Amino acid sequence: LPVTLTLDPAFTVGPVRRRTFGSFVEHLGRCVYTGIHDPAHPSADENGFREDVIEMTRELGISTVRYPGGNFVSGYRWEDGVGPREDRPTRLDLAWHSSDPNLVGLDEFMAWAAKTGVEPMMAVNLGTRGIQEALDLLEYCNVPGGTHFSDLRRANGHEEPYRIKMWCLGNEMDGPWQIGHKTAEEYARLAAETARAMRLLDPTIELVVCGSSSSDMATFGTWEATVLAETYEHVDYISAHAYYWEEDGDLASFLASAVDMDHFIESVTAAADYVRAAGKHSKRVNISFDEWNVWYQKRAESKPPTGDDWPVAPVLLEDRYNVADAVVVGNLLISLLRNTDRVHAASLAQLVNVIAPIMTEPGGRSWKQTIFHPFAQASQHAVGDVLQVGIDAPTYGTARFGDVPVADAVATRDPETGAVAIFAVNRSLTETAVLTVDVRALTVSGAGNLEVVESTTLSNPDHTWAATADDSTSVLPRDNDTAKVVDGVLTVEVPPVSWNMLRLA
Ligand code: AHR
Repeated sequence: LPVTLTLDPAFTVGPVRRRTFGSFVEHLGRCVYTGIHDPAHPSADENGFREDVIEMTRELGISTVRYPGGNFVSGYRWEDGVGPREDRPTRLDLAWHSSDPNLVGLDEFMAWAAKTGVEPMMAVNLGTRGIQEALDLLEYCNVPGGTHFSDLRRANGHEEPYRIKMWCLGNEMDGPWQIGHKTAEEYARLAAETARAMRLLDPTIELVVCGSSSSDMATFGTWEATVLAETYEHVDYISAHAYYWEEDGDLASFLASAVDMDHFIESVTAAADYVRAAGKHSKRVNISFDEWNVWYQKRAESKPPTGDDWPVAPVLLEDRYNVADAVVVGNLLISLLRNTDRVHAASLAQLVNVIAPIMTEPGGRSWKQTIFHPFAQASQHAVGDVLQVGIDAPTYGTARFGDVPVADAVATRDPETGAVAIFAVNRSLTETAVLTVDVRALTVSGAGNLEVVESTTLSNPDHTWAATADDSTSVLPRDNDTAKVVDGVLTVEVPPVSWNMLRLA
């Protein structure tokens, strides 16, 4: 299949934003307990955090980490998680029908984030709680001292304020499953007043208001317009959440999931810009795509326990990802990057064990899932500006999205060095695609022609192959030696159902 990509350094979308490569740690299943935190593990540090997981998080190239939820945050009392551990209560977590011993709380998470080198993104509870508790938490985190909650932080051994920048005003408040679920009008008022009060305390913070939990929500679009009409001047971002999975064996539609993500981003942008115009605002509200991934929501492991069973850290949402899932995750990253003008932050949900790129055994091994690789490659090599990419490709038919191009791609260029990275997927189930890119326009004047410095492909004849603790390395991104530049034109063969990265310098 012939696919032509057209790039020109004069046509950029915007900068590559480090915050696009965020992730998410929720008190859910084994994400925190036996995920990032496992005092019994041989690599555990003095705080009980697994060094092997910290190392993999760095390798993955994670920038921000959203915490502590998710649905969990809508019933959470942050005060339970600070102070001497022996005094902390065990609480029921109604969102996931679990118990939380509160061995990890705010101060431990902040220690983990600092050690790992990630920026925290904190969520406040607007489900069962409200303005006062959000202010108390902000005071604990960001006020240097001399007040009740800032002195409590100091008494707990944390002299310096955390000065957390990014704050989420609740989580998925449009969802009927959410504890304290609200109508758009109810949420809009609470979010506006919470944001206004938080900004009185610390005007330097950046605030994320809840958008829709998916583009399938009945209120999608009107929720954004209603919430932003009330909160526009008080917030910086509106959130978007999207999960995709292969349903009823329809791999063709699943591989085209990024079509929905593009539509989602376009629609939220339109709603935000409508409110901007109607309210005569000058600033723009941008998108924090703070939950996205492949998630097989209908599988049994996604169902929380029931009845009198309230376990600590049960196995929940532990999806095993195959090669096709990794291609979709890579394609979703392509969508986030190509929309860098309006998507200013994003979080792969989640980081460890729970719908995650990193898996652990309690006290034992850790390994990388297939989805780890496209994320790590893009995080490491997407540098500089995102270029506009013209894609001329044959289409294939899908039940969900109609005819879609067989290939999708995004490119970045470092204006300092002229180095270019191209990330591309072949969504065809059966056909190899030949990508052609005329790279002459990308050459820095006075320098030689661009040459291929790296070309890798992640694919497998059996796209259902999934990594396990015993074998996580049989299928990895491998060198693709079909890539060549001849007379200023790059060509590369990319197999069916594949994720590909090309680097030129
Ligand atoms: O990431 C898993 C869950 O998905 C989160 O708790 C919730 O916000 C979303 O529905």
